[in-house]
Amino acid sequence: MNTDSPSPNDSWIRPGFLWPDNRGQHIQAHGGGIIKQGDTWFWFGEDRSKDNDPEKRQVACYSSTDLINWTFRNQVLNISDPENFGEEWILERPKVFHNPKTGKFVMYMHIDGRITPDHWSRYSIARVGVAICDTVDGDYQYLRSFRPLGMESRDNGQFIDDDGTPYLIFESRPTKGFSIATLSEDYLDVEKEICLIQAPLEGGAIVHYEGLYYVIGSALTGWWPNANKYATAERLEGPWSEFKDFAPVITHTYGSQSTNLIKIVGSETTSVIYVGDRWRPEEQWDSRYVWMPVEIGGGNFVLPEPKPWKIDVQTGVVSYQD
Ligand code: GAL
Repeated sequence: MNTDSPSPNDSWIRPGFLWPDNRGQHIQAHGGGIIKQGDTWFWFGEDRSKDNDPEKRQVACYSSTDLINWTFRNQVLNISDPENFGEEWILERPKVFHNPKTGKFVMYMHIDGRITPDHWSRYSIARVGVAICDTVDGDYQYLRSFRPLGMESRDNGQFIDDDGTPYLIFESRPTKGFSIATLSEDYLDVEKEICLIQAPLEGGAIVHYEGLYYVIGSALTGWWPNANKYATAERLEGPWSEFKDFAPVITHTYGSQSTNLIKIVGSETTSVIYVGDRWRPEEQWDSRYVWMPVEIGGGNFVLPEPKPWKIDVQTGVVSYQD
């Protein structure tokens, strides 16, 4: 089936297809993050809607109880250049953490622009931005930006361990790697580097599965997909294994870039879902999502060829449309 034809409303997740929300509009949650509150998942991401105010940058939030049907909740951030970075300023890859102590929801994002007006790169400021809200899908208040632990930070990811500990993952080019770092008690600051994984990768995501941590990331090729890779470790501190491909190299990760890994712990099994973006740089509002359950275990991690699938979120069991 042509991925540009509208998805039939038949309760399958169709990687690469248009993915309509409850309003029938293609979901705008690119480079996103997903958290679970009670029995509901919330998906935050870059809202690249064609009719957005081009002076502003937007983050949208959707909710779902089955991971298939998503309800648009709110444009949780819709802000004008908060740091005076200039008209081409960038806000990408928003990730929201819920702080059980303060009750607040804290959003981390990649915020960027030209370090001087004539600098060649729109990505030379390389900071994280932080925003906060009392409710998961309310209007977030932008607080500030900084370089975490003094390091450049571009693609940022998030990982919440099984014990609830939140980690920010961020890519830092000068140190040629990506960091896994803990947050301060109020979640508003980045506190301590747990590990610097020395591999030139971005789009970092982590999952903990059967006693092993699996990290994935993409090579640094901008919007163009490449062969993403994974490594494993018994502890987040490492040592990490060598990086290996997890999809046939020629497919460039089936035309996608890593963004997240979701773990669904069901009554019968635990499934892990790869969440990737298939970018359309000239028409970002039409960028697609490649979500696919992975074959994981014993140090192996494989992304199968995308095809329609669904998951019973109670049992964790995945089924495929043949
Ligand atoms: C990618 C990155 C995206 C975006 C893009 C811009 O490498 O993962 O989030 O920043 O570069 O070229």
